[in-house]
Amino acid sequence: MMNRHRRAVPVVGDLHPARLLDLFGTTSLARTVVLIDRCESTNTEAADAAARGAAEGFVLVTEEQTAGRGRKGRQWFSVPGKSLTFSIVLRPRRNGEGITPLMGLSAARALDEVCAGIDVKWPNDLYLGGKKLGGILAEKREGYIVMGVGLNVNEEVDDFTGALRDEAVSLLMHTGERLDRGAVLAGILGRFGEGYGEWTRSGFGPFRQALEERLLYRGKRVLLDCGGEIVEGTVLGLTDQGCLRCDIDGRERIVASGDVTASR
Ligand code: BTN
Repeated sequence: MMNRHRRAVPVVGDLHPARLLDLFGTTSLARTVVLIDRCESTNTEAADAAARGAAEGFVLVTEEQTAGRGRKGRQWFSVPGKSLTFSIVLRPRRNGEGITPLMGLSAARALDEVCAGIDVKWPNDLYLGGKKLGGILAEKREGYIVMGVGLNVNEEVDDFTGALRDEAVSLLMHTGERLDRGAVLAGILGRFGEGYGEWTRSGFGPFRQALEERLLYRGKRVLLDCGGEIVEGTVLGLTDQGCLRCDIDGRERIVASGDVTASR
């Protein structure tokens, strides 16, 4: 689907809600879409909407985030008109175990259509050529989960400054093609919606192997930061709950949350 929406020139209005609904189609998990010009964070806006009763499948997209958030209070950098920043409200019948890796896998699979070689860095990052392409922030509240995704789509190298210059990449920088963000969004949510039903019934287990196949650092030595304790180990794979399996000093350890970086 995304291939049909590649563009050689900047796309104006590629996130127009009517267009998005058309691209999502009638069977999509995404049922309502709101585009706002600017907000602090789509996760905050979507959580407010969910608290007011927004149903599962409510999608909030913005052109500009002024206080985009990542995990652990980090900032999320995005560029108006170039980045894709959105959140979807979920009201699953199970706890959220494995939902972030499921979104990582869904996004990577959807983006295969425009760019091969996207890895998932456990638990919530998309990587391309060793650089960060996107991030996922799932926030669980009473009765709902807000799943936010930030993706570098049409940024140019000069859009990234400071440390990001070395650490970040966009689809445009990698492929040389400017993409229609609406089609990218529809592709990601379409893939996610396909997996969501199965995840609701069976959890993350059915997706474990597919994600392991594109797990960054699999079989590699890493530094693992688990809330202050930093240990070195080798990434083995994932559990059926979406946790990380590591070999540390010859013993397998299951990590439910933490940060992984390559060991030098
Ligand atoms: C991370 O890298 O730790 C996750 C980044 C998640 C960023 C997205 S952008 C849309 C949504 N709104 C936010 O404030 N954060 C997420």
